[in-house]
Amino acid sequence: MSDNTTPPAHDKVHSGPVKTPKQLLLTVFFSFVAPIFIMIGLVYYVTASPQPAAGTGNPEKALAARIQKIGMIEIRDANRELKGGEEVYNAQCSACHAVGLLGSPKFGDAVAWGPRIKTGYELLLTSAVKGKNAMGAQGGGAFEDLEIGRAVVYMANAAGATFDEPAAPVAVAETAQ
Ligand code: HEC
Repeated sequence: MSDNTTPPAHDKVHSGPVKTPKQLLLTVFFSFVAPIFIMIGLVYYVTASPQPAAGTGNPEKALAARIQKIGMIEIRDANRELKGGEEVYNAQCSACHAVGLLGSPKFGDAVAWGPRIKTGYELLLTSAVKGKNAMGAQGGGAFEDLEIGRAVVYMANAAGATFDEPAAPVAVAETAQ
């Protein structure tokens, strides 16, 4: 029997290439641990590479979008008391307009507001309701248009305009049961 005559060869065939504890450790490392790191690296590579850096196109807009209160949920009560201009301004508009953030006309700054006020209340209201450049619709808020109108009047009048406060709709409360 050739097996009996050559025992060392027989051992070799069954023991495989791993002979020392050090080799065993290396084998375990390269077959189990290293692939995990390679996979993590690949995942980072795949998820990170195609995205352009945030805000490279329009950094001001990106900043405005980031700091705006988006995704807010407001359960609107149709009969709730509408907020006044100052209240809306403090809640929503002052974030930018109090300091002139992103190039917004600063509160009370007659020079910045002058040319805008000349365009008329309707246009300012449209800008505020629908958004303009770095300012999102309603400055990112969720108000009734009338409340935005009041805030526009509050801000414009503080900078020298003499707009009338937009009137509340009449008789809504009487018809609603
Ligand atoms: C994220 C910052 C930001 C917030 C919040 C914000 N605004 Fe503005 N607003 C701007 C910027 C910037 C401009 C200048 C836009 C331009 O002319 O390019 C502006 C301009 C305006 C103008 C002048 C528009 C025109 O046509 O010239 C009005 C009116 C105005 N905002 C009202 C408001 C009101 C009312 C609110 C709150 C409900 C508000 N804004 C909240 C950034 C903001």
